[in-house]
Amino acid sequence: MLKNTGFDPLGYVNRVKEILPKIYGKKPLALINTYGCQQNVSDSEKIKGMLTTMGYGLTEDVEKADFVLFNTCAVRGHAEDRVFGNIGVMKQYKQKNKNMIVAVCGCMAQQQIIADKVRKSYPYVDLLFGTHVTTRLPEFIYKRLTGSGRIFEISQDSSEIVEGVPISRDGKIRGWLPIMYGCDNFCTYCIVPYVRGRERSRASEEIIKEAECLVKSGYKEIFLLGQNVNSYGKGLDEDINFSKLLRRLNAIEGDFVIRFMTSHPKDCTKELIDTVAECKKVERHLHLPFQSGSDRVLKQMNRRYDSKGYLELINYAKEKIDGVTFTSDIIVGFPGETYEDFEKTVKLVKEVEFASLFTFIYSPRNGTPAASMPDPITRKEKGVWFNELLKVQEEIGRSNNQKLVGQTFRVLCDSIESEGLLSGKTSSNIEIMFEGSDQLLGQFVDVKITQYTNSLKGEIV
Ligand code: SAH
Ligand code: SF4
Ligand code: F3S
Repeated sequence: MLKNTGFDPLGYVNRVKEILPKIYGKKPLALINTYGCQQNVSDSEKIKGMLTTMGYGLTEDVEKADFVLFNTCAVRGHAEDRVFGNIGVMKQYKQKNKNMIVAVCGCMAQQQIIADKVRKSYPYVDLLFGTHVTTRLPEFIYKRLTGSGRIFEISQDSSEIVEGVPISRDGKIRGWLPIMYGCDNFCTYCIVPYVRGRERSRASEEIIKEAECLVKSGYKEIFLLGQNVNSYGKGLDEDINFSKLLRRLNAIEGDFVIRFMTSHPKDCTKELIDTVAECKKVERHLHLPFQSGSDRVLKQMNRRYDSKGYLELINYAKEKIDGVTFTSDIIVGFPGETYEDFEKTVKLVKEVEFASLFTFIYSPRNGTPAASMPDPITRKEKGVWFNELLKVQEEIGRSNNQKLVGQTFRVLCDSIESEGLLSGKTSSNIEIMFEGSDQLLGQFVDVKITQYTNSLKGEIV
C-alpha cells in the first residue's frame, strides 16, 4: 500500500535549528556532492532545502564545510569507484573539524554490501542512509549531534511518498519535477530497481501544484522526471496516465515549456506521441533509450520490445511530431553480445539518426541477473566497438547539424557560455550558441543558425 506522509512529523527540523548555534557558534555550512542522474540532482535539491530550513548555509568549499554529504549513484562501477576515492579524502578534513558530519546517501548507500564496506573501512563517515529515508535527514542529524553513535539506515520499505519537503533549487530557469519514483522493470543489467525500490507515482494534484508554483516563480522549463514516465499513474486511485498528466500541465497558463525523461519504449504509446504533437508547451524531443539493436540481446536484457516495434514508434513520431528529434541510451558489450549483435545496434543508430547518444560499456552490477551471465568479450574489444559506435554517431550528428544552418528557431536562453555568449535549446533539444546579454537568460528568442563547426552558432533575429 502506498502511503502519503507529511514531512518531519516529529519536529526534528526545529530541534536541529535550536542546537546548531550552540554547537557551531555560527551558521554552519553544508557541502553537497551529487553524482548520477537527475533523480539524484532533484533529491539533492530537497536535501539542500531541508538543510537550509534547519539553519545551514551552503558552500562549495570543503575547507569551510561542517556537513559534507555524498549523494551517490550505483549505475556503473566507475561511478562507485569515484565516490569511494572522494569519501577517502574526507578523513583529513574531519581531523581538522571535530564537529564535522560526513554523510553518504543515494543509490550506492542503499546496498547492504556498500553500507558494510563504509561501516568497516570508512570510520569517519558519521551517517549513511538509503534512498527511501532521505527525508528523515533532520532526524539523523539531530541524533548524531546529540551524541548518538554512527547512524546507518537503509530501510527497504519503498511504499512511502513524502510530500511537502522544502526544496532549494539549483537553477532559476529549469525546474526538476519528479512525477514518480522507483522502477519495476528489472532490466537484467540494471541496479536501479534494487536501490530505488518499487515504482510509485505522485498524486497528479501534487505535481500540478508544484508545476504551477514553478511557473509562478518564473521557471521557464519544467522537466518531469521518472525512470519510466510512460507508466506514470499505475496504482493511483485517479483516472490518469502520463498523456493525461501532460495535457493537464500543458493547460497551466504561462510562457513555459515541458520536457520529460525517461520514456521506456515498451510503454511508449501512440497516445503519448499524439499528445506531444498536440500540446504546444511540450517540447519536440523524445529520449527513448533502446539499449541494443539486437532482438536477441534485448530479450536477454528483459527490455520487452524488439527493434521492429521500436522503429515503428520512431516512424510514427517522425510522422506526427513536426521536427521531432530523438536521443537514446545504448549499452555496448552486454554479456554474450557478439559483433553481429553490435552491428545491429549500429544499423538502428543509422536508421533513426539520433540527435545524440549516451553510450555506455556494460558494467556488471552485483546482484543483477546479467552479472552472472557468461561474458567472453574482453573489455578492450568492447572499447573498440564502443569507439566505432561513437564515430558513426559523430558523422550523423555532423550531417544533422549541417542541415540546420540557415534555419530559425525559438530558443530558450538557458546559460552563459562566456562573456556576451549565450546558449539555449530549441524545442527539439538542439543547442545553439549566440551573442547576447545575460539579460536574456530565461527568455525565449528567435535565433537563426549561421554556422556549424563543432557546435551550432547563430544570431538573434
Ligand atoms: N530508466 C532509464 C535508464 C536509467 S539508467 C531507462 O530505462 O532508459 C541510465 C542508463 O544507464 C540506462 O539507460 C543504460 O543505458 C545505462 N546502464 C544501466 N545499467 C548499466 C550497466 N550495468 N552497465 C552499463 N550501462 C548501464
Ligand atoms: Fe533500469 Fe530498466 Fe528500470 Fe531503466 S527501466 S531504470 S534501465 S531497470
Ligand atoms: Fe544512478 Fe540512482 Fe540515478 S543508480 S542513475 S543515481 S537512480
